[in-house]
Amino acid sequence: MNPEINVVILAAGLGTRMKSRRAKVLHRAGGLTLVEHVVNTAMEITPPERITVVVGHQAEAVRKALSHRPVQFVEQAEQKGTGHAVMMCRGLFAERPGYVVVIYGDGPLLSAETLRRLIEKQIGSDTAATLITTILENPRGYGRVLLDSDGMVSAIVEEKAATPAQAAVRLVNSGIYCFRADLLWKYIDEIRPENLAHEYYLTDMPEIFRRAGHRVAPFELADPTELLAINNRVELAEVDAIMRNRKAKELMLAGVTIEKPETVTIDASVRMGIDCTVGPFAQILGNSVIGDECEIGASSVIRNSILAAGVKIEPFTSIADSRIEAGAHIGPFARLRMNNVIGVGAHIGNFVEFKNTRFGAGAKASHLAYLGDSEIGEQTNIGAGTITCNYDGIKKHKTQIGSNAFIGSNSTLVAPVEIGESAYVGAGSVITKPVPPKALALGRGRQVIKEGWVEKRKGK
Ligand code: UD1
Ligand code: CA
Repeated sequence: MNPEINVVILAAGLGTRMKSRRAKVLHRAGGLTLVEHVVNTAMEITPPERITVVVGHQAEAVRKALSHRPVQFVEQAEQKGTGHAVMMCRGLFAERPGYVVVIYGDGPLLSAETLRRLIEKQIGSDTAATLITTILENPRGYGRVLLDSDGMVSAIVEEKAATPAQAAVRLVNSGIYCFRADLLWKYIDEIRPENLAHEYYLTDMPEIFRRAGHRVAPFELADPTELLAINNRVELAEVDAIMRNRKAKELMLAGVTIEKPETVTIDASVRMGIDCTVGPFAQILGNSVIGDECEIGASSVIRNSILAAGVKIEPFTSIADSRIEAGAHIGPFARLRMNNVIGVGAHIGNFVEFKNTRFGAGAKASHLAYLGDSEIGEQTNIGAGTITCNYDGIKKHKTQIGSNAFIGSNSTLVAPVEIGESAYVGAGSVITKPVPPKALALGRGRQVIKEGWVEKRKGK
């Protein structure tokens, strides 16, 4: 039987070095908040009800960011240090058997594979705890790990307290530990806030265990990348770049062509089919799903949208919360704001804005239009400059246009209004009344010609 694993994620600190009003773990890298990344990783090794997140700064916002994950929360009202944060969990599961894994919420690159190996190493040994260490070229900001002659951890020294000799040590504490549950709860209260910061440091545990005759083993990772913690916004950008790079590589290896991959932003949750092409500076975000053979033009932004196969998005197009059917062609410079469904083979051209609109298969709006709260039939042509007046200052109203209709340029469609199938609307019309199927509607001033008017006016 597998032993019980309880995971504690420390996410209560403000993160002073971020110089932010927002709690550090709520900053984003790779499209998710830092704490979401860590919780996702923990969920790969243990059921969510065995994951406890210690919250403090902006506790409500942190809970909200994790509301879709059934983890438990513990409040650390005053942030008195990483050891104190773990102490807060005593009431919740100190009686539980097995092991307690502690992870700091500011290290979002950690992999589940590494956690599994950490736990295996601890289970297979007779030590009180195992902690992940690594050697850093530049160890600044990290606690230094001191080893005894047996290669066991004798102490972790925080940078502020380190002697010059200790500061020169490049073996650092990752902040990821696996403790034997019984020994953790037996000894954790021996942590004393006797340091420059007057905090309860979890990093005192190796020395405490040692005094009690127990040992702590290091688990050294050769590649420090996944242990990088974020303390300021420079590190945030570095970690974000690593995540973006990973995602771009994964997609390229799966059959997506990415031009200038170092410039694109694709969230980890995005899925893409084969033979897609992504132009420079494109962003594909959230839960977007892109079918095979789509083209995403340079500098386009696609958010939470579904594109069927063979959709072509020209450069500088913005699409959010919409669904685009196969073979549609959109942009450049188009904006699909929210809740649109664009039919098979439809065409939306430059400077066209859509909101909450269903656009039939093969329909066209090639230039300069606004279609809001509307339903437009198949093969209908929307002329340049057409505007749905969907808002009367109080309420939004619907525009309905049947299939095969032709809306002349610069038409103003005052909603609520209905235009029948195959109807025509003359250019420049203001349409306020229903147009029956197959009818022609004209709603404009008649053109008047006054021959020789100019000469008469000048009295010649
Ligand atoms: C900590 C370690 C250091 C290690 C480094 C690895 C300690 C004393 N130091 O330093 O040895 O090398 O991480 O990244 O543990 N937190 C709380 N409550 C608190 C204090 C912190 O929940 O009272 C949380 C923070 O939100 C953060 C995490 O614990 O997610 C780590 O805190 P941080 O202040 O970043 O620790 P470091 O100084 O980086
Ligand atoms: Ca940190």
